Amino acid sequence: MDIENIKSQFPIFKNKINGKPLIYLDSANSSQKPKNVIDRITKFYSKEFSNIGRSVHSLAVTATNRFEETRDLVKKYINAKFREEVIFTKNATEAINLVASSFGEKFINKGDEILITELEHHANYVPWHFIRQKKGAIIKFAECNERGEVDIDAIKKLITNKTKIIAITHISNVTGAIMPVKKIVDLASEKEIPVLVDGCQGAPHLEIDMQKLGCDFYAISCHKMYGPTGVGILFAKKKWADILPPYQGGGGMIGEVKKNDITFSDSPTKFEAGTLQTAEVVGFSESLKFIESIGIKNIIEHEKKILEYALETIKKNNSVNVIGDPKKRGSIISFTIKGIHPHDIATIFDEDGLAIRAGHHCCQILHEKMGIPASARASLGIYNSKDDIDALSSAIKKCNKVFNN
Ligand SMILES: Cc1ncc(COP(=O)(O)O)c(C=O)c1O
Repeated sequence: MDIENIKSQFPIFKNKINGKPLIYLDSANSSQKPKNVIDRITKFYSKEFSNIGRSVHSLAVTATNRFEETRDLVKKYINAKFREEVIFTKNATEAINLVASSFGEKFINKGDEILITELEHHANYVPWHFIRQKKGAIIKFAECNERGEVDIDAIKKLITNKTKIIAITHISNVTGAIMPVKKIVDLASEKEIPVLVDGCQGAPHLEIDMQKLGCDFYAISCHKMYGPTGVGILFAKKKWADILPPYQGGGGMIGEVKKNDITFSDSPTKFEAGTLQTAEVVGFSESLKFIESIGIKNIIEHEKKILEYALETIKKNNSVNVIGDPKKRGSIISFTIKGIHPHDIATIFDEDGLAIRAGHHCCQILHEKMGIPASARASLGIYNSKDDIDALSSAIKKCNKVFNN
């Protein structure tokens, strides 16, 4: 694969950061955007913009069509059965809040159990905490093992006849562990327990096929898939999309409004209240086309190669402790360097134009489990090469020189 050519499609790499070429190892946080995505948004605002789903004038019809065409592309990309199963939200956080709120309101009662894992991002814990508080439910955490992964047995032993939903990440945004989602779904469906998958790190880096995965809900943040900010997707199986109550009320989501009664439209409109992130959704259509132009299988293969090289390279440095060693790993490496605070690591790296993330990555439960308050995290995208990893390795050495000499 011609990575230089792929990278040249991202205008951001033409800029210098602190006088140095940008080395971007923070795609798990948010990926960079190819020119086609940026241009599509400009074109939409320049030539096609109107609010959607309301007016009948030509621009409104064009804009509505472009928006709905993106829904069709998403449906095809994730292999959903029905377009009603594809709901646009502002990010994955909102997608999970939607399920926690709507599902929780209707189906979770006092003493019921919500099963999550110790790997979860706060986005897949805090919304369930709200339901715990509101309904008197119980949240159970499936334990993460020393490798930084949660195995099927850890889930199995916590399932009871009070388990109302299982909500799990697809890939840990700290250890990179790939969860055995299919096995968990199979186990859960024997007991008719729905499964929500936080697909934030899965969707950009794995083949995601709703028919193969079989989960009930799948949450995506499009800005991590080379797409614009402000767009998320909730896949909700039709059987749920049909019966869950709306999440937010307002324009666009109603059937009929009377003084003493209100009815609601069907999914997806039922869950898409108010003026939507139209330009961003339309822009996202180009992100999917970009991914498909390379092929997700090629993306996976490339990232795997760079990940293996990265692990091998940085483990050679004795000062580095890589967090977790999952058997199946996505392109994320969190680490600490002996005696250096992760924020200092990130600051030193930044002097050389190298962008990583430092902190708890919205996973305080997992960091507490690992006995550390924070870590540094390097994460990959399609534009990364072995040269970027060599730069990472040099930056680690520089850090040691600055702080540990
Ligand atoms: C695993 C995981 N879940 C949820 C989120 C939240 O994504 P967003 O802030 O785009 O809603 C993130 C973002 O880092 C993540 O990595």
